[in-house]
Amino acid sequence: MNVYDSARMGDVLAPLGFVPTEDAGAADMVILNTCHIREKAAEKLYSELGRFRRLKDARISAGKRTLIAVAGCVAQAEGEEIMKRAPHVDIVLGPQTYHRLPELVARAERRIAANDGASPRGILDIEFPAESKFDHLPDVASASAAAFLTIQEGCDKFCTFCVVPYTRGAEYSRPVADVLAEARHLAEAGAREVTLLGQNVNAYRGAGADAAGGLGGLIRALADIDGLDRIRYTTSHPIDMDDELIAAHGDVRQLMPFLHLPVQSGSDAILARMNRRHGIDDYRKIVDRLFAARADLKLSTDFIVGFPGESDKDFEATLALASEIGFVQVYSFKYSPRPGTPGAAMGDQVPDAVKAGRLQALQDVLNASQSEFNRACEGRIMPVLFDRAGRKAGQLVGRSPYMQPVHVMAPEGLMGTIAEVEITEAHANSLGGNLASPKMDNDGDNNRRISA
Ligand code: 5AD
Ligand code: SF4
Repeated sequence: MNVYDSARMGDVLAPLGFVPTEDAGAADMVILNTCHIREKAAEKLYSELGRFRRLKDARISAGKRTLIAVAGCVAQAEGEEIMKRAPHVDIVLGPQTYHRLPELVARAERRIAANDGASPRGILDIEFPAESKFDHLPDVASASAAAFLTIQEGCDKFCTFCVVPYTRGAEYSRPVADVLAEARHLAEAGAREVTLLGQNVNAYRGAGADAAGGLGGLIRALADIDGLDRIRYTTSHPIDMDDELIAAHGDVRQLMPFLHLPVQSGSDAILARMNRRHGIDDYRKIVDRLFAARADLKLSTDFIVGFPGESDKDFEATLALASEIGFVQVYSFKYSPRPGTPGAAMGDQVPDAVKAGRLQALQDVLNASQSEFNRACEGRIMPVLFDRAGRKAGQLVGRSPYMQPVHVMAPEGLMGTIAEVEITEAHANSLGGNLASPKMDNDGDNNRRISA
């Protein structure tokens, strides 16, 4: 999500003459794009801001200016506090107001000029009109081979650990026609893969969807776009995996056989306290139906350990589920109480040392299943979409259908294309291989899928 938002902010600022740079010391403007969902996001922001204050002071001494902006969820949540604690910040803008960046930059520059060196108060813009954000963003300038497309924002689920419903607001889906237009544009600009984004993406209900509606229908429509060879979506809630979407996994060749489906815990009692609205058996049933639709599907997930009230027995259930499902990629977190969420006010908070021990035990299981899957890929031929240069000269890096990074010695001309690669090496988090010759289809096997 944040990578996509950063790219869109770059697009919005391009007409003002801003180009992206890796060198913050030479930048006329620094934007810190923040995410509130993880631990200690606010503290990390303030320490980063300290670093950028020194950089800004050094630039002022050299007679130059640096605008500092804070964007994203922490900006939304901390607003005034950032202005108070970090007066060198020029602009604070929430996730819904990126389209106003050019105006905010112009206003900040006018204020600085008017104060001539004095430290004027920054500009705060953290309103919530989700619809207008999508209406005003300009078209994507040039797409990368693997592009992101936001189709949905916000969340109404109110899991008791999560800040998203408070920082990103209610669920909103972009109209089908807008999504299709942007996807066509991305494909014309060179995107071969599109990842549909949303905090709760499979709750998608865009205006213009037919009666079956929803994400499954949208994916079928996207699959008709020329040049769009791969479709993914993230992040999903298990209870929104409806029949239409599951069927799309079986029928739509472009939909990659890899799905991120957060489960959070293996214990029914903890899922209830988290207000996840489903039990472990429901999750199993959904997974079984997905596998029935598409046998080569692999899953990734999120787990939180140490949620309030999590006993040793609850945690054992999490370990058991992790082994049972055999996730090929997992993000696991120690529970971190977010102020204002129900979880933070619950009794039975788990001591940090216990959380740390559980996280380690869970990661051991998860790393083992990820490595096992990577090893099982050795000797296979997989389609790889190359989207960046490797560290070694002559090397390209791309993604397998299962999102594994694959390192291959390959001519530069293959950048932005899908090529077949024979996997020769499996590492903990990536694969290595050689270009293979025979042509095969894009989803890792040579089966033709037909929809009945
Ligand atoms: N503490 C720990 N992990 C969290 N996540 C969200 N909120 C918290 C929290 N308060 C994790 C969830 C979610 C992922 C994006 O971040 O696992 O799926
Ligand atoms: Fe947060 Fe996801 Fe739950 Fe929504 S569904 S409240 S975004 S964890």
